[in-house]
Amino acid sequence: MAIYPELKGRSVAITGAANGIGEVAAQSFAAQGATVYLLDIDGAGVERISAGLRGAGQKAQAVQLDITDEASVKQAFAAIETGGGLDVLINCAGGYGRLATIEDMDIGEWDRTVALNLRSVFLCSRAAIPLLKKSKAGRVINIASISGRTVHASSSPAYGSAKAGVIQFTRFLAHELGPHGITSNSISPLTTLTPRVAALRTPEQVEKIAAQVPLRRLATSEDHVATMLFLASDGAGFINGATLDTNGGRVMM
Ligand SMILES: NC(=O)c1ccc[n+]([C@@H]2O[C@H](COP(=O)([O-])OP(=O)(O)OC[C@H]3O[C@@H](n4cnc5c(N)ncnc54)[C@H](O)[C@@H]3O)[C@@H](O)[C@H]2O)c1
Repeated sequence: MAIYPELKGRSVAITGAANGIGEVAAQSFAAQGATVYLLDIDGAGVERISAGLRGAGQKAQAVQLDITDEASVKQAFAAIETGGGLDVLINCAGGYGRLATIEDMDIGEWDRTVALNLRSVFLCSRAAIPLLKKSKAGRVINIASISGRTVHASSSPAYGSAKAGVIQFTRFLAHELGPHGITSNSISPLTTLTPRVAALRTPEQVEKIAAQVPLRRLATSEDHVATMLFLASDGAGFINGATLDTNGGRVMM
């Protein structure tokens, strides 16, 4: 893992930090010496991970919230403000329940999926803006998906549409927050071998997906987290409104 000395002492909030990519992000930013706020609906999960990080001498604080709920998000960011402010917001939590078609999707599934993946990014970003404006190195990093870039990765139409919305919303953030010295970018991952995804796919399915990727493998959480660390670093300070395709070139196929 690259070391970015400037991240030491910065304050980083990560949603979805109890599992998968968000958990690896929390561990990696903590290892850089950042103060990490682990945000998740799974309060016990983030409390356990935070306690482990604190036990290793790192700075971590668990915050339980529902990112789709306006009042819950407000309360969480008020706690972060009381804790001393925020430099980096990583909107990582998201996902979808099942592979679906437009025809077989009911309105409830559509609304829940869009709320989890897009409404949440609006709510958390809006709540973070006053804190980020006080930072000298403000960053918003949104986790979109290759599903928001192209339709050939099988997923869910609600999920892909919401992730395309995340990519566009990131551009609005970049435009609005740029004058305050805050950059906003997104990352568009490919299927990532998190524990949850690895448990869902057979080795044959993994091989089939990997065969469609120019680099011939699926992503790891570390692939995305290396990009997040870079985007948070001073060297990435002039990248704004971009989506970085951490998908091994799959998006161009
Ligand atoms: N894993 C992949 O293959 C993959 C591929 C492309 C994009 N992504 C994106 O990367 C991000 C992380 O994916 P992952 O697979 O690591 O996720 P994951 O499912 O492993 O973890 C998601 C976390 O979000 C939390 N969460 C769910 N609903 C919440 C809510 N309402 N409020 C607060 N927290 C909530 C869960 O408790 C969980 O800890 C997501 O945005 C996902 O869409 C993942």
